[in-house]
Amino acid sequence: MTSIQSKGTALVTGASAGIGAIYADRLAKRGYDLIIVARNAQRLEALAEKLRKETGRNITAVAADLGDKAALAKVEHILRDDASITLLVNNAGVGSVASILQDNVDEMEAMIDLNITALTRLTYAVAPGFVARGAGTIINISSAVGIAVEALNGVYSASKSYVLSFGHTLQRDLSDKGVRIQTVLPAATATDFWDVAGYAPQKSKPTTMSAEDLVDAALSGLDQGELVTIPPLHDGEQWLRWEADRRAFASNFGNAKPAPRYTI
Ligand SMILES: NC(=O)c1ccc[n+]([C@@H]2O[C@H](COP(=O)([O-])OP(=O)(O)OC[C@H]3O[C@@H](n4cnc5c(N)ncnc54)[C@H](OP(=O)(O)O)[C@@H]3O)[C@@H](O)[C@H]2O)c1
Repeated sequence: MTSIQSKGTALVTGASAGIGAIYADRLAKRGYDLIIVARNAQRLEALAEKLRKETGRNITAVAADLGDKAALAKVEHILRDDASITLLVNNAGVGSVASILQDNVDEMEAMIDLNITALTRLTYAVAPGFVARGAGTIINISSAVGIAVEALNGVYSASKSYVLSFGHTLQRDLSDKGVRIQTVLPAATATDFWDVAGYAPQKSKPTTMSAEDLVDAALSGLDQGELVTIPPLHDGEQWLRWEADRRAFASNFGNAKPAPRYTI
């Protein structure tokens, strides 16, 4: 039991395992009460009980399949109505290593429902309250393959590019209203993600990070005020240069006439 003053409530999705379970642990130890969300009620309740004992925080487990509209609406409702919520961690996600010729399109649609639609709807649910209260933080878990898009399954990579782009526009729309945004790009991390994605050996490769190191680094990035945190990228300046180039490049599109190279 700690005597740290409460920082409000953090709602963490995908908290029954992997990266989300470590976020739950670290945030409870930082003084947040928690609402932890995932499908597996038993694993969620076991984590809730452990963290209650260790930290004395209020921990509520909400079993919900975020790919299911009705269950997702229940979590949106919590985010809209519970004014104690100060932090949303959009972490729940699934991946795949299969190519378009091996994949089932229904599984890809389910991935989009979770990785994109649920993350978007939960963000839309929480943002107005954060703006009204002039404070709140949204952490969205993207992936290094949101940039290194050829590495894994195309729909997965594209879903994580979406999360990165969405974070930039959330920053544009919400940062002057007291809302903090952080997009986190893990690379390979040792979780059950790889069993679900179809390449379990990745978990024990020497280049794979532990979920504990990943989350501790991501929270350090949050403490440092970063908009985008890439824990495995050692040369942080490389991201800043790439981002500056992107913004400079984006200023070159305002021409009514096509480029001369397209003259017929
Ligand atoms: N591990 C990596 O190498 C890696 C790299 C880059 C990015 N990421 C991203 O990190 C995030 C967390 O992944 P992880 O590595 O921690 O994977 P994980 O260990 O497989 O955990 C995924 C979590 O999401 C929950 N979840 C899955 N489907 C759900 C659904 N339909 N509704 C609600 N919850 C659901 C799972 O719980 P239930 O089964 O109980 O629902 C679990 O708690 C994901 O967004 C992933 O894309 C992971």
